[in-house]
Amino acid sequence: MAPQDAASAPAWTPDRWRAHPIEQAPVYPDPAALAATEARLRQCPPLVFAGEARRLKAALARATTGEAFLLQGGDCAESFDEFHANLIRDSFRVLLQMAVVLTFGAGMPVVKVGRMAGQFAKPRTAPTETIGGVTLPIYRGDIVNGPGFTEADRTPDPRRMLDAYYQSAVTLNLLRAFAQGGFADLRRVHDWNRSFVADSPLGPRYAEISQRIDESLAFMQAVGITPATSPQMTETAFWTSHEALLLPYEEALTRTDSLTGTAYDCSAHLLWIGERTRQPDGAHVAFLKGVANPIGVKCGPTMTPDELLRLIDLLNPANEPGRLTLIVRTGADKVETVLPPLLRAVKREGRAVLWSCDPMHGNTIKASTGHKTRDFDRILAELRGFFAAHRTEGTHAGGVHLEMTGKDVTECTGGARAIAEADLGARYHTQCDPRLNGAQALELAFLIAGELKQARRCGPPAVALG
Ligand code: PEP
Ligand code: CO
Repeated sequence: MAPQDAASAPAWTPDRWRAHPIEQAPVYPDPAALAATEARLRQCPPLVFAGEARRLKAALARATTGEAFLLQGGDCAESFDEFHANLIRDSFRVLLQMAVVLTFGAGMPVVKVGRMAGQFAKPRTAPTETIGGVTLPIYRGDIVNGPGFTEADRTPDPRRMLDAYYQSAVTLNLLRAFAQGGFADLRRVHDWNRSFVADSPLGPRYAEISQRIDESLAFMQAVGITPATSPQMTETAFWTSHEALLLPYEEALTRTDSLTGTAYDCSAHLLWIGERTRQPDGAHVAFLKGVANPIGVKCGPTMTPDELLRLIDLLNPANEPGRLTLIVRTGADKVETVLPPLLRAVKREGRAVLWSCDPMHGNTIKASTGHKTRDFDRILAELRGFFAAHRTEGTHAGGVHLEMTGKDVTECTGGARAIAEADLGARYHTQCDPRLNGAQALELAFLIAGELKQARRCGPPAVALG
């Protein structure tokens, strides 16, 4: 923004987005009930503390300059019905297992961020759905309406925002307990990985990394690095994130930090703007530019260098490292053509951004069985294209963003156990997009670790921070 624009622009307030055109907003039939829910949420305690969001920003700043790697993952959409401690535990556990493997491959800290404790709102292609001549509002995630094809379920109900808030609070509480209470013990996480390698049909391919982690842990023990001397052995930092899609909810959970006087969206540590709501003059950009959290923007196949630089100007005018993560999701067939010009433009202009790869959303197809699916090899191909582009341009491939679960679902085809299209129906449980199951996610982590090792051999990236 030019200085004269900054001077004449009205000051940002959490409700400024309401003056902007908005995409993907549900239509609530009862505005009074909506206003009452917003008022209730404004009274509710924040889910995260501003100081935590600042610590995450500092960790992401290190990932921006090539000294850390971001692992962001979790459900496409959390669900009210599928809410259970074991599900949270299992997804958290797989993320920890992946993080150990990635830490080893990258030789640097891994910043762990869940698509958890608030990932409820979904952007959709069409506003309605018609079945058997009946047209109803489309399902937009449990925070908005229900998935059943009935008028009662599909009518947007603002009270669902309160249910989502409380479910997020409970989920976050358990995640904090797991992260700090001993569940994250590095030796135990490695034992789980050893079992994975022993059981996987492609285990021998991953055995080398696993054995080398074994040796490293034995060495640490020998020199006296134990849980008693180093809390890092049993505790970890874990952060939450979701798409900031439902703006009445995000606005109502925005608080002014008493220490700094700045606004933070306290519904999660990191919020991102989706591919369908990233219009520079749109409501979602107008909202997120004013909160001081670390934020992300999805970059799909139509993103151009000019458009991207404009968004970076709007969302990170101070060029603060750690503020902005660009989550690239072009699809495996486009990454080679779309990504390099973006990398070059951002590098040329000296913008500090963290580049992360979402290899899921550009590779969704319809299987012969009618299921929405993604194939493991296409996911891997996009990741490899992402790493290759960074190697060529001398920039840092700084993270991955995955839809995954700890459950043994059959939603994505391929992987070591070679899930076929005919197998998809067996355990297809997702509310929305197909997720990698625990074994597929971990297998991917071993393969990414290989890419990270190769990136290390190519030397540190030339990062220009302006
Ligand atoms: C998502 O991350 O679930 C999503 C909808 O992604 P995108 O905005 O990239 O389509
Ligand atoms: Co999705």
